[in-house]
Amino acid sequence: MLQRNHRNYEKSEIQTGQMGKYLGFGLLTNTGDDWLRQRRLIQPGFHRQRLQALTREMQAVIEEECARAAGEADFDLFKFTRQIAFGIIVRALFTNGFGERETRRLHTILDKLQAYVIYPIRLPFLRTPLRLTGIERRHLALARESRELVQRQITQRKACCTRDPAQSPDDLLQMLLDSRYEDTGEPMEDRQLIDEILILFAAGYETTANALAWTLWLLLKHPEELARLRTDADPDYLTQVIEESLRLYPPAWITDRVALGPDTAAGFTIDPGYTIGLFIYGIHHSPRYYAEPEVFRPARMHPDRKKERHPFSFLPFGGGPRLCIGNHFALLEMQLALRHLVDHYTVEGVGTLPEPVPKPYITLHQDRPLRVRLVEYL
Ligand code: HEM
Repeated sequence: MLQRNHRNYEKSEIQTGQMGKYLGFGLLTNTGDDWLRQRRLIQPGFHRQRLQALTREMQAVIEEECARAAGEADFDLFKFTRQIAFGIIVRALFTNGFGERETRRLHTILDKLQAYVIYPIRLPFLRTPLRLTGIERRHLALARESRELVQRQITQRKACCTRDPAQSPDDLLQMLLDSRYEDTGEPMEDRQLIDEILILFAAGYETTANALAWTLWLLLKHPEELARLRTDADPDYLTQVIEESLRLYPPAWITDRVALGPDTAAGFTIDPGYTIGLFIYGIHHSPRYYAEPEVFRPARMHPDRKKERHPFSFLPFGGGPRLCIGNHFALLEMQLALRHLVDHYTVEGVGTLPEPVPKPYITLHQDRPLRVRLVEYL
């Protein structure tokens, strides 16, 4: 579905209709030829080498947020990781264009939209009451406001870079503004540009914030792994910890596809129109692919061990042509954040922390707040 016969499948109305309605029709929610054209345009901006240019911005956000959190008596773990992930995506897109007030407003709007969009998806019978009670209208107004905030950035950037092209920063917005379609040589229209920017927020912020929160929780629970991260000179071990966390708690725990034509898979007949849920969490927890799948064991993510695995048994970023465009971005961000935290702080639970249970919203949340504090590691 994702790779060999991907042309026979499209994303469902949940992603292309319901999510698109509030978050715009960018890469994640787009389909068909239009999606391919956009993907070709945007892909080069996410190349691993290009992302190195963003490392400094990411590091600055991480240091600021950690210092701020360390100054508080205690705080909610997920709120902390959301601040980091949102700060990073803002800075990666707009370098220093967004002021603090605008950043806060956009953050609030996107949180509200992401929390809301699950209702018409999970409970389709609520769609009419949501419309009739004006709740849908209020959220559509929030979506419009987010578009206006982004439009202002685009207008400002265009004006500033026309005056002095040497001033154009090396960020994602500039990359999107500078890219040209292969066939026409034209740039993206503003409307499409806003869609793509909002989708990068939607796809890239909550996912990474959840991944960071789960990884920190795992390190809290496994002090021996934290100790190893501090002493082990092998930088790949951190990647193994991150990947094992993404296996146990994949932020994108499910995705879907609708069959366009007939197909067969694993002995099932798939008729056109069937919607198939690709249960990423289920694959990651299956004893068919992982011995003792519930155990946190970073060693199983060692590059040598990966070769023994079915290539599609580890799908935190999906697979095939629609593989997450931000996978290197997310890994870089997590590596930088965890390295900084591990080297400079210890995350401590306040009292005895309850064991969080995964809660499957659009991304995989923890079902309860975890109060923690940052203690400087000397
Ligand atoms: C740990 C963090 C992340 C996880 C687990 C994750 C997961 C995924 C998955 C599973 C898909 C494929 C969905 C499907 O095929 O149906 C996807 C697509 C996508 N992701 Fe990510 N993602 C993460 C971070 C990011 C970041 C940081 C960005 C951007 C800065 C991003 C942007 C996107 C976009 C634009 C798509 C759509 C790609 C396309 O269809 O062409 N993601 N992501």
